[in-house]
Amino acid sequence: MNIVILAAGQGKRMKSALPKVLQTLAGKPLLQHVLSTALSLQGKQAKNGPVVVVGHGAADVKTFLLNTSKEDPSFSKVTTALQAEQKGTGHALLQALPKLDVQEPTLVLYGDVPLITKKTLTKLVKLADGVRGQDSALALLTQNLRNPIGYGRIVRDADGSVTGIVEEKDATPAQIAIQEINTGIMVLPTSSLKKWLKALRASNAQGEYYLTDVIAMAVKDGVPIRTTQADDECETVGVNSRDQLAALERTHQLNIANQLMDAGVSLADPARIDVRGTLECGTDVSIDVGCVFEGCVTLDAGTKIGPYCVIRNSVVGKGVAIHAYSHIEGAKVGAQSVIGPYARLRPGADLSNDVHIGNFVEVKNSKIAANSKANHLAYVGDSIVGSRVNIGAGTITCNYDGVNKHQTIIEDDVFIGSDTQLVAPVRVGRGATLGAGTTLTKDAPANQLTVSRAKQISMQWQRPVKQEKKIITKKAPTKKSTVKKVSTKKIATKKTAKAKK
Ligand code: UD1
Ligand code: MG
Repeated sequence: MNIVILAAGQGKRMKSALPKVLQTLAGKPLLQHVLSTALSLQGKQAKNGPVVVVGHGAADVKTFLLNTSKEDPSFSKVTTALQAEQKGTGHALLQALPKLDVQEPTLVLYGDVPLITKKTLTKLVKLADGVRGQDSALALLTQNLRNPIGYGRIVRDADGSVTGIVEEKDATPAQIAIQEINTGIMVLPTSSLKKWLKALRASNAQGEYYLTDVIAMAVKDGVPIRTTQADDECETVGVNSRDQLAALERTHQLNIANQLMDAGVSLADPARIDVRGTLECGTDVSIDVGCVFEGCVTLDAGTKIGPYCVIRNSVVGKGVAIHAYSHIEGAKVGAQSVIGPYARLRPGADLSNDVHIGNFVEVKNSKIAANSKANHLAYVGDSIVGSRVNIGAGTITCNYDGVNKHQTIIEDDVFIGSDTQLVAPVRVGRGATLGAGTTLTKDAPANQLTVSRAKQISMQWQRPVKQEKKIITKKAPTKKSTVKKVSTKKIATKKTAKAKK
């Protein structure tokens, strides 16, 4: 089967420099949603991948395809056809014709209808198949909408057979009242399609070559038109403006929230969660309001996520508590650990079980073994931390010398006093204690106290006294202004004399 995705339009109603099909829904460009579905429908064995018709912002769309195929090799099958001038959906499909196999039917998808599912498309493709004894048909995905504004309307005759599609801008008041709309998604016999597309005329309100006009041509040629609808209306929603994009995002997120709750996840408010990727949860996971999940995130059973956390490409173990406003990316969090509030785990943070990372602590590219703690204001980067280690408030691993990164090794049962700097590369031996304020530049031996601190001294001290400001008084304009000086020296000496007494 041929699949063509129309994606050359500018999306004027978006008022954006970005081509419309690259606007994101649930963190992914609209076009990526459509292509992922198209690729899974075609299967791995398909000879020709989907053809994307590009035009407005073609370079950006091509760059997106190239970058995506680096992450997901299945995208390397996708090819493009250029529609240099955007003269309508029919004209767009015409540009893809040379790439199509005439022996196979053609499925047309729209780059701005992102949530269409494989299930619905499979149903549509089957509908176009020659039912026993009949020629293959033209299958059209339609939808009955309470508010059909903006869409092309499906026109049927008295028997209910489809006779054509009329665009809203060309419709009569009676046609505008029709609630069955064209989703734009259809399966067509390719050899006939060639003929029909070449016969299109742009004599309509928008002066465009409408793909929708081929329906009436098919009727004329006696090709049967069959229609079906998607189970969920959101599958067929087209995105033309920012409010439609925002509305579809909320609908999509609510669907995801409902799926999570069906799977046994507690959500404080299903309207206040955003999943931009995949979120896998064990039983009895609970998620407070305002959390954002990006990429692939796994939360094991019993984990609790506090409000306003952002978690990206991370694996969180059983019974973990992640408190409010924590930011976790590319990290592994072991079972029963406690993170946050206001903690930041950066890529390569690999925490074992029962690790505590508290407020304003940042961990990057570091392994922290079981039962270790860094509860307040610390930076642990490029480090290997053993078990039962206590990292005091304000401790920093100085891992970067301005050119290279170096490693810090902290062995089991180490106690690091507050405000310590570990200048890497450096090793703290098992059971060592570092006194508060230490700047560690050499390895600290095991089981000893290491302190590097200036010696504490005390002396008599007189605090400086604040100097009074000069007061400038202005006299008559002809005379010089005089400066009244208040001698602060006198005041200071008087006071000191008093104090001495
Ligand atoms: C189109 C349909 C309308 C349908 C609606 C469904 C036509 C004439 N109208 O209207 O019946 O109800 O979609 O969402 O087909 N495109 C190109 N090249 C162009 C013009 C558009 O590639 O020259 C692409 C766009 O990038 C977009 C898709 O085709 O992905 C649809 O174009 P758009 O302008 O959004 O059409 P609608 O007005 O939504
Ligand atoms: Mg549209």
